[in-house]
Amino acid sequence: MANKNLNAAKTAKKDEFYTQMTDIERELQHYWPHFRDKVVLCNCDDPYESNFFKYFALRFNQLGLKKLICTCFDGSPVQGNELLLQFDWDDVDEGADASERRNSDECHARKRDLLPKKIAYKVEITEVKDLNGDGALDLADVQYLLKNNKNVISLLKQHGDFRSAECIELLKQADIVVTNPPFSLFREYIGQLMQYEKSFIIMGRMSALHYSEIFPLIMQNKLWCGFNFNISAVYKAPYENTLEANRKYVISKGLNPDDNYIKVPAICWYTNLDISKRHEAIDLVCRYSPDEYPHYDNYDAIDIGKVQDIPFDFPGIMGVPDTILGQYNPDQFEIIGLGCGDLGKVIGVGKNYRGRTDLAYTKDGKQKCPYSRILIRNKHPKQL
Ligand SMILES: C[S@@+](CC[C@H](N)C(=O)[O-])C[C@H]1O[C@@H](n2cnc3c(N)ncnc32)[C@H](O)[C@@H]1O
Repeated sequence: MANKNLNAAKTAKKDEFYTQMTDIERELQHYWPHFRDKVVLCNCDDPYESNFFKYFALRFNQLGLKKLICTCFDGSPVQGNELLLQFDWDDVDEGADASERRNSDECHARKRDLLPKKIAYKVEITEVKDLNGDGALDLADVQYLLKNNKNVISLLKQHGDFRSAECIELLKQADIVVTNPPFSLFREYIGQLMQYEKSFIIMGRMSALHYSEIFPLIMQNKLWCGFNFNISAVYKAPYENTLEANRKYVISKGLNPDDNYIKVPAICWYTNLDISKRHEAIDLVCRYSPDEYPHYDNYDAIDIGKVQDIPFDFPGIMGVPDTILGQYNPDQFEIIGLGCGDLGKVIGVGKNYRGRTDLAYTKDGKQKCPYSRILIRNKHPKQL
């Protein structure tokens, strides 16, 4: 049911899923040394709604950030209210040729509402001080900074679209990009990060692992999965949550589905930063036997039902579940390709995606297609 919900989001291009602070904290706690003296960009992100912005603004000094940049897309229907900050757009630096926009009906309406709704803008922070003099660095200081420092917020002219020229200029400044980008534009989003050779920590759907634009990057060790893998994330989203099981899950997490909280299953983090997890080898305890590990009928490899059943002594190719990517260590295994099961379309078998064969094996006289398999080879099979 939850998958249906997620797929519906994809079909309707519903992209407004706001990440919980706890999910951000759980992942980013592992990357702290990477942030020192770095420019962090949170794009596709409304600083007035976003916990990514809050996360970095509140820890700006602890992390030793050089600069924090956040950009907001004006296609978002979500009204900023989390920081409970109203600012007067007359005070905001709108750029040199802004008079036309400033006088438009739309802009007047926005000013009237004094809400940062659907306005494309950027926030750039180079320091966070105890500005209100209360002896602590907290959200009140960030609010004070946004409200009182005119250099910090400025309008964007090109909708805040991550593909726009002005957002690309900000991307060029960035060392690390951290966000939850729109699900519907994930391929393009990753393509851009690759083009500009940026480091990143971003959230996405597990199904993206199989995209023909993404899987080759995993094979080439240009992208891998972060710490929190195959999780069910609860997002704040402006969509009605009417699914019983989904609502129950949200309630079990102490949140109210009527406050637009929604569970999205099969989420993981994608990164290209070197993380400790990537150097931890999976403990292999099973020994290979032809009876226990069926050989595919149509590809020279054996099928493995669970990652923990990978034999330590098999030198050939093995088809393993996608969950291997949550524990993948490139020193231990090499990824050979992707073979899909009977539910998906085959992306290909083999390094060049030339193969077009669905993986299948025969057991008890019946041919079986495993659900989804990644083809790997153990780089150091042991012979005991
Ligand atoms: C999954 S939401 C995540 C929001 C926020 N980063 C967070 O995690 O809380 C993706 C955001 O990307 C925005 N978005 C959609 N298309 C975009 C585009 N072309 N350029 C920039 N942002 C876009 C959506 O409006 C939405 O706010």
